[in-house]
Amino acid sequence: MRRLIGRVFQAAFATVASAIVLGSLSASPGAAQKIEGLAPTPPMGWNSWNHYGCNIDEALIRETADALVSSGLRDAGYVNVNLDDCWHGERDENGNIQADPERFPSGMKALGDYLHARGLKFGIYSDAGTQTCAGRPGSQGYEFQDARRYAEWGVDYIKYDWCNTGEGAEQRNPREAYRTMSRAIAASGRPMVLSVCEWGDNEPWLWAGQYGHLWRTTGDIINCWDCTVGHGAWSSSGILPILDQQDKLRSFGGRDGWNDPDMMEVGNLPTLAENRSHFAMWAMLAAPLIIGSDVPGMTPEITAILANKRLIAINQDPLGRGAMKWIATPDWEIWAKPLTDGEWAIAMLNRGDEAQSISIDWAAVELKDDTFGHRAEFAQRSYTLTDAWSGKAAGDTRTALTSKVAPRDTAVFRLRPI
Ligand code: GLA
Repeated sequence: MRRLIGRVFQAAFATVASAIVLGSLSASPGAAQKIEGLAPTPPMGWNSWNHYGCNIDEALIRETADALVSSGLRDAGYVNVNLDDCWHGERDENGNIQADPERFPSGMKALGDYLHARGLKFGIYSDAGTQTCAGRPGSQGYEFQDARRYAEWGVDYIKYDWCNTGEGAEQRNPREAYRTMSRAIAASGRPMVLSVCEWGDNEPWLWAGQYGHLWRTTGDIINCWDCTVGHGAWSSSGILPILDQQDKLRSFGGRDGWNDPDMMEVGNLPTLAENRSHFAMWAMLAAPLIIGSDVPGMTPEITAILANKRLIAINQDPLGRGAMKWIATPDWEIWAKPLTDGEWAIAMLNRGDEAQSISIDWAAVELKDDTFGHRAEFAQRSYTLTDAWSGKAAGDTRTALTSKVAPRDTAVFRLRPI
């Protein structure tokens, strides 16, 4: 009897082990299928939606890929090239999804090959409903078939949206929907990042990490500083309204499961200060850094913001903590992000239209992250300060810091224990 149990156990173990090797655990209903290790730090890349909407084709994607390489943005870390809505054509007679033949005449496999040959990754978009938000074919009922197809094309990243999933009591269960796509990815045999995009409607920070590697926390971003634009049943928001919804979620984000305050509008905002602040705060939040602007036409100033290696290092710090709002006034805020080896990043955000002189008297403040148990002991330990924008030394914490921050701009400092 013991031997029989042993054999049954061995056989069961062998099945599970081979299922893991094959990336498929279909024998255990309800289990999460997520492929771990694909997003140890927040994903970085580009997505077509914010700047181009539905107006995309293969020439644009190739040009963008080339510009990511020639501008140095790929080497700065922006490796994912993500097609958003509207790449789709119709399904064929067997239900296989196809690219729009007019806009992508060379096909998706060729596009994936083009990206991979340049050291880039291939991202695609679909939707958990019957149709995408722009009315293209959705993946509901086709999840496994679509994931297999994406795998054949060499896709590395799927953004999975939430339009046309039904209304009220008839609405699709979001956990079921994202679990199904997660399983479909595992069954396809190709590791793909799953970007959960249900706009924060169902508190995805509580459950989406079982299935995906990042989850949208809000409705859509738009390229304004402090506006909200209604579209009937939904609204889009600018940088500050989105930022204001993030602090309460910081405990949920981390390795392989990131809070996603949406793709960046850096390059699409009217002033350099606003673009700088937006980038600085997304870096501080440990947000995915997905460029949403025109890369071939990017100005050198915007490229310099996006490629700032000190800001990127703050975002990509392996500790994986998002920033907390440390000190807040109606006009300005100071955010603090714990980093590895007891280092910290501090951002001084000027929300308003007047320049601000912002001071920190280190001896008089306490910096404690109660959620994750990090603290800076300014009384016992001093830290050097580096201006993260310029790379210049900015003194140390033995002397109070005063920084003049222009309207809507953000100063960022890195603190290293001496
Ligand atoms: C939704 C998403 C956006 C974008 C569009 C495409 O609104 O939230 O990010 O993908 O759909 O139609």
